Amino acid sequence: MILVTGRDKTGIVEHFDIAYELEQPMGERGKDLSVLRCTRVVPGDVISVRQQVPLGLGHAIWCARTIVGDEPFAIFLPDELMVSRTGGSGCMNQMVDAYDEVGGNLISVLEVPMAQVSSYGVIDPSKSDGALTEVRGLVEKLAVADAPSNKIVLGHHIVQPEVLQVLETQGKGAGGEIQLTDAMVNMIGTQPFHAVTFDGARYDCGSKIGFVEAILTIALARPDMRTEMRAIALNLLR
Ligand code: G1P
Repeated sequence: MILVTGRDKTGIVEHFDIAYELEQPMGERGKDLSVLRCTRVVPGDVISVRQQVPLGLGHAIWCARTIVGDEPFAIFLPDELMVSRTGGSGCMNQMVDAYDEVGGNLISVLEVPMAQVSSYGVIDPSKSDGALTEVRGLVEKLAVADAPSNKIVLGHHIVQPEVLQVLETQGKGAGGEIQLTDAMVNMIGTQPFHAVTFDGARYDCGSKIGFVEAILTIALARPDMRTEMRAIALNLLR
């Protein structure tokens, strides 16, 4: 797992380390350490790389190029939470199943009300077969009137390593940023490109409201928290 992060944002790197200063004294007192230990990884399994200047998502991905090497890889944008249906498989699992069928480049999409599309990448869809849609084109944050569909690009991708070469010389796009979307458009026609419509719910934790909505929804769905959380929520709304 490669974390692309920046200066002063190393909390995520610490998260996967051993919290010795907590584990040692708490262990001596016989406390339950499972919460501290559940994020432990084998050394070398989590690598971090700095994006020194926030030049865009495409640039962030390019920053990991020497670690990724010459293999297909998956991208997870951390400000989105995808929750599958009860008993269903997760978003990336749904994509891996599709990848086994069609290969190439894959993105996850969801249909949203047309009024919301200008905040996202949007696909120009071709043929569909169940959850799988061939992608003819892709645009980043266009005005509603110019958007080719209401299928927005979500934060899970599976891409071929050639995208890293495209990003090497990719100029700035929407918002003055080096966009992953533009690099993926560049590869249409040279590699298969499909979208998988995610069967589940997506929470945009990049907005304060979306973040709170995600936490509340999950707490209200958890058997161990549901009753207490519901009482708290009802009390707040009184
Ligand atoms: C990025 C992508 C965009 C995608 C969105 C999903 O935008 O560039 O295509 O729809 O993530 O969250 P950002 O949220 O970084 O502006």
